[in-house]
Amino acid sequence: MLVTLEGLDGSGKTTCVEALEASTAVPEGTVFTREPTGSWYGDAVRRSIRDDDADPLAELFLYTADHADHIANTIEPALDGGQAVISDRYSDSRYAYQGATLDGRFDDPVAFVQDVHEPWTRPPDATLYLDVDPETATQRSGAANKFETVDYLERVRENYERLIEEEPDRFHRIDASKSADAVVETVIDTVDSLVRG
Ligand code: TYD
Repeated sequence: MLVTLEGLDGSGKTTCVEALEASTAVPEGTVFTREPTGSWYGDAVRRSIRDDDADPLAELFLYTADHADHIANTIEPALDGGQAVISDRYSDSRYAYQGATLDGRFDDPVAFVQDVHEPWTRPPDATLYLDVDPETATQRSGAANKFETVDYLERVRENYERLIEEEPDRFHRIDASKSADAVVETVIDTVDSLVRG
């Protein structure tokens, strides 16, 4: 089973993933991973994030190359070996974030990015969406990169809402405006029920 965590920067994903890694609710052998990955493709992505002049379409394909490598070398081998996988960000980050950076470039940028992935990606079985408003998110994250402005995150959030509408059964919405302890507890309970069936 492939479980992904999604949400705006500052939604508390990293804290939740660390808590999951330490939790006995997660079966032994579960693979924890993330996008952007630690591969050289991921390094290229991080370089692009730091570049305020990066072309959004070029950036989409860097993220997407990282995703292809991630699937081929981490996700599929783990799933084929019967391990559960938990990924901190995955394809929905592209649909939501690059769907926003490509605004104006295509009629429907979210659909365009989905179409680029559709023939070859491995969709998640379940996705936890840490829901927080952009003001709280930017305050928490300290607006560390070009993606972390309120206006931009507003559009990213709308795109996540659209994805949830398209696949309500895959998404589990978690109110991430609550205290860190409360959010972590809900995340662990949700993952527990997902991986144990
Ligand atoms: P993030 O996981 O938040 O990294 P960190 O823990 O180092 O802050 O991801 C980095 C940024 O990249 C974040 O602002 C979201 C953005 N992003 C995209 O725009 N598209 C994607 O496909 C992914 C995976 C991330």
